[in-house]
Amino acid sequence: MYLLNQPDLIHEVLVTQVDKIEKPEPLKWIFRSSFGNGLFFSEGEFWRRQRKLAQPAFHHKRLQLYAEGMTRRAHQLLATWSDGQLRDIRKDMSATTLKVVVDALFQSSVEDDTDRIYQALHELGDILEQQGIANPLLALVPDWAPLPLMRRKRRASGALDAIVYRFIQEHRAANTDSGDLLSMLMLAEDEDGQRMSDRQLHDEVMTIFIAGHETTALTLTWAFALLAQSPAVEQKLHAELDAVLNGRVPTMADLASLPYAEMVIKETLRLYPISWLILRQATADLQVGPYRVPKGHQIWISPYTMHRHPHYFDTPEVFQPERFGPEGDRDLESRPPKFAYMPFGGGPRICIGNAFALMEARLVLATIAQRYRLVFDPGSKIQLRVGNLLGFQNGASMRVLSRS
Ligand code: HEM
Repeated sequence: MYLLNQPDLIHEVLVTQVDKIEKPEPLKWIFRSSFGNGLFFSEGEFWRRQRKLAQPAFHHKRLQLYAEGMTRRAHQLLATWSDGQLRDIRKDMSATTLKVVVDALFQSSVEDDTDRIYQALHELGDILEQQGIANPLLALVPDWAPLPLMRRKRRASGALDAIVYRFIQEHRAANTDSGDLLSMLMLAEDEDGQRMSDRQLHDEVMTIFIAGHETTALTLTWAFALLAQSPAVEQKLHAELDAVLNGRVPTMADLASLPYAEMVIKETLRLYPISWLILRQATADLQVGPYRVPKGHQIWISPYTMHRHPHYFDTPEVFQPERFGPEGDRDLESRPPKFAYMPFGGGPRICIGNAFALMEARLVLATIAQRYRLVFDPGSKIQLRVGNLLGFQNGASMRVLSRS
């Protein structure tokens, strides 16, 4: 296994020699049984076709349609908060971002389903975590194995499948572009006029569920945890929000006037790039800079280690959103080279939802931070939990204090 921790070598693998790498087989085994051949785990010509079909659904113009849902869901969350309450912020963020992604996918009234989706998805996430990086041997256990863990996996997957296929049938019956991601994916045609099958739509929806909600939820949770420990940054963010929004609900149009909120999110993703490990396998012998990587060997790229490299980032352990401002990093003559900062990966397989995630994170952050400060009780702290994503050991318990 080779860990690359140098931007030019990473560029070499993710861009220049991308046709000689794939995602590692064991990773595909674990996830494919639940998420099928969706964008995240498909390869080659099939992946290329799917990416082309799906790309327009994430276009800037489409994202506008989802912005209102993002702030509405954040407001709904705030309606359940009261001044001085102790909350598990990770859970709150997770429920909110799941609702956002369910709205964006189906654009229909799915309140009951959202709860069921949340439960099944988290159950599945839990099992995949056990089968993932933490315990690679479990990855070899087939889904049909008569084990309690696998029984739970089948049950959770089955519950999600039933809901997703029902939505697909309803969308097929309507056969119009109702503005949501599913109808866009359903109506997209390739050069030969072919559309996605039900199975493929299912796989893409499941992929968006899993790739598109916990990542943003954890980013927001880390942002609040970092803000709670950095009063000067928090004050600067509040000053920007108060000056620009003056109590108004933020919209997509406001984002251009909230540069500091963007810097806070980018800096959060530098210190805690939720997808901390990008895994690949060489499908041919590779020469990467001075290193030879034989066919079949794994290549690991970690945004986490790259983002904390002192050669590219001044005081890399410090939460300092200003490094993403016009002045940039003080230690650098120019901005960090590409691939020194890559929370969304890079090359052709860069996260398709990156603009969606950045918009959502900023809108939800702005909506909440406008009204509340989130603080840790004396003596309480959070602990990093390294699994498939960068999470928290025991949730993220924080006290919410009204700013008004
Ligand atoms: C802060 C939030 C997010 C982070 C940090 C993140 C990170 C990443 C990374 C690093 C990759 C590349 C993985 C690799 O190369 O192996 C990726 C791929 C992907 N992400 Fe995200 N993501 C986020 C949010 C989202 C959202 C909101 C969606 C959808 C709504 C999404 C959908 C996807 C999909 C479908 C892929 C696979 C793309 C492909 O291979 O063509 N992600 N993400």
